[in-house]
Amino acid sequence: MLFDTHVHLNADQFEDDVEEVITRARDVGVENMVVVGFDEKTIKIAMALVEKHDFLYAAVGWHPVDAIDLTEEYLTWIEKLADHPKVVAIGETGLDYHWDKSPKDVQKEAFRKQIHLAKRVKLPIIIHDREAHQDIVDILKEENAEDVGGIMHCFGGSVEIAQQCLKMNFHISFGGPVTFKNAKRPKEVAKEVPINRLLIETDAPFLAPHPYRGKRNEPSYVKLIAEQIAELREVRYEEIAKETTANAKRLFGIS
Ligand code: NI
Repeated sequence: MLFDTHVHLNADQFEDDVEEVITRARDVGVENMVVVGFDEKTIKIAMALVEKHDFLYAAVGWHPVDAIDLTEEYLTWIEKLADHPKVVAIGETGLDYHWDKSPKDVQKEAFRKQIHLAKRVKLPIIIHDREAHQDIVDILKEENAEDVGGIMHCFGGSVEIAQQCLKMNFHISFGGPVTFKNAKRPKEVAKEVPINRLLIETDAPFLAPHPYRGKRNEPSYVKLIAEQIAELREVRYEEIAKETTANAKRLFGIS
């Protein structure tokens, strides 16, 4: 059994065939998936999908690239949704210094507000970190995010950054990049993370793993992530599948 902890079945890329994509994932053993909402439209679609399928769960939050659009009304709405029994995390939130739609100070403010929200509703946080490793760690520390912990999604930082996140009660999740031939750092970190803090994800439709790199990603490919990590750690695939699934269920409170 596999658990895809981060998938955007709510993205436009799946508009025409989402049910087939879900079926293919289930056919290769993906038991559960967390559909991650990151703005008004994708949160609404995520909620509709989890109402329809009992094995799907949702995360609700606001993407750092769009932090400039996050209003108090949206924050209140997200906080209300957090009460829904199938909402298992707040996010994705975080910092993204690759794109400049939202200035850094606006991103940081939206990030802090969502950490506060997650602590009020007592849900783990899903962190998006692009080219912002140290600022993310500093804010998580300053806001005592370890009270709720969460996930460093599609982790691309160093072993040192991973260790700081682990100390703060966070899990480290790997996606497609860990399979890329030239991805030295994720491969290094994937070997070091304690087995009880390791998670897998696709971030589909983005970041498809090798040999689908550049194509549309989908949750059935999470199997390739588990296989790559098993190879790196020199353990059996079944062990990675079992442990990462158990970790995800424990973190999200799914029995
Ligand atoms: Ni994402």
